[in-house]
Amino acid sequence: TARSLSARIAGLLSAFPDHPEPGIVFRDLAGVYAEPGLLAELADAVAGHFGGVDRILAVEARGFLLGAAVSARTGLPLTLVRKPGKLPGPVHRVEYALEYGTDQLEVQKGAIAPGERVLCVDDVLATGGTLAAAAALVAACGARTAGMAVLVALAGLGGSERLSRHPLLVLHDVP
Ligand code: PRP
Ligand code: ADE
Repeated sequence: TARSLSARIAGLLSAFPDHPEPGIVFRDLAGVYAEPGLLAELADAVAGHFGGVDRILAVEARGFLLGAAVSARTGLPLTLVRKPGKLPGPVHRVEYALEYGTDQLEVQKGAIAPGERVLCVDDVLATGGTLAAAAALVAACGARTAGMAVLVALAGLGGSERLSRHPLLVLHDVP
């Protein structure tokens, strides 16, 4: 069940105060990825929650892990959203704010067909800036965000509120 997956994630998460800068408590999922078979179970939970999805969109860098797993488990096509300057050819670009700093994200023009229903995935939801930027890139392609999924959501940073216009699956909430 989703509850037992949440408990398993909780037991494997580590907290690192003041990383990557003072005041941030970094939630490290290394233990989650190190657990044999767990990533496939998490991917299945994400895939089973959403219907009518045409494509998986995953955000660099840590979002690639869940995105690749969901794509592999479902057979759905996978599109990578990357930090600026990484993707070749024409791209759509958006700027966004992070819990620490600002950045830009890009997707290749033509990577997502107009009208497709896209599931956006990432490892951690903090302020929601990253997934909001991903949804903006989906919209720039003329496609629709069918839903969003994260392994871990951090409370108190406004992330779920910011993404409230989209169906959001959180596999584990950190208070
Ligand atoms: C982290 C995390 C999410 C994002 C969440 O990525 O992997 O993508 O921050 O924060 P937000 O909800 O406030 O946008 P980061 O930008 O640190 O990059 P990385 O995955 O390349 O390490
Ligand atoms: N991404 C944004 N904020 C984060 C945090 N506190 N821990 C891990 N990943 C993050």
